[in-house]
Amino acid sequence: MRIIELDEIDSTNEYCKKYVCDEDVVVVAEKQIKGKGTNGRNFVSDKGGLYVSYVKRYENFDFSNTFSIMINACVAVCRTVEAYGIKPTVKWANDVLVNGKKICGTLIENRLGANNVCTSIVGIGLNVNNILTDELKDIATTMSEQKGRKLNLTWVRGRLIRNLKKQYTVADYKKYVDWFGEEVYLDSNGERTSAIALDVDEDGCLVCNIEGQIKKISSAEMRLRLKCKSI
Ligand code: BTN
Repeated sequence: MRIIELDEIDSTNEYCKKYVCDEDVVVVAEKQIKGKGTNGRNFVSDKGGLYVSYVKRYENFDFSNTFSIMINACVAVCRTVEAYGIKPTVKWANDVLVNGKKICGTLIENRLGANNVCTSIVGIGLNVNNILTDELKDIATTMSEQKGRKLNLTWVRGRLIRNLKKQYTVADYKKYVDWFGEEVYLDSNGERTSAIALDVDEDGCLVCNIEGQIKKISSAEMRLRLKCKSI
C-alpha cells in the first residue's frame, strides 16, 4: 500500500478526498493546519503527533456494517498503544482514552453508493510526542507523557498502519470497554439523559437501561459521557 508523506497540510482527510480517493493508500502529515474533528470541530494537530488517513475501497460493503470500520480503527489504535506498555480504553463510539484522558480521535468519512460504502477514509489523530495546549491538558494525554520519554514516531506509525490492515471484531472492541454496568450520560442536542451502559451490540449500538427500559442507541443519535472521567 502506498504511503504519502506530507510535511504540512490542511487536513489529511481532505487531502484524500481531493486527490487519492481512487486507490488504497495511507496519507500521513507531520502537522495539520485545519485538522478536522467530529461534529465539525477543529482537531489541534501540532508537530509530534501522528496524523494518518487510511483510504480503503470496498466492493459490496453494506452500509449497515459501517460500525465495523470504526471498530477496526479503535482496536488498531488500542493495540498500537498497548505495544508500548500503555493501557488504553475505548469510549463509545470512537475515542481511545488512557487514564481517563483522550489519547486519540478518529474521524471516518465514507463515500457511499446506493446501498453500500464505496470508500472509507479513516482519519486518526494519535497524540504521541506533541505538546498539549493548556486547554487540552486536563482532558487529553500523549504517549510520551504516559511513558515519560519521547517515542520514535516512525515506529509508532508503522505499527499503527500494520494494525489498521488487520480485521477485528466487536468482541475485540469490547475488551477495551471499562464502563459496562456504570451510570453514564447520553447527550443529544443539548439534552442530557442518565442511563446504565450495558453492552455494545454487533451493529455498534450502545445498549443501555434508561429508566428501566432497555434501549439501543446509535452513535449518530447520542454522545456518551463518562461520569467518572473528564471526557
Ligand atoms: C475527534 O476526536 O474529534 C476526531 C479527530 C480526528 C483527527 C484526525 S487527524 C487525521 C485526520 N485528518 C483530519 O483532519 N482529521 C483526522
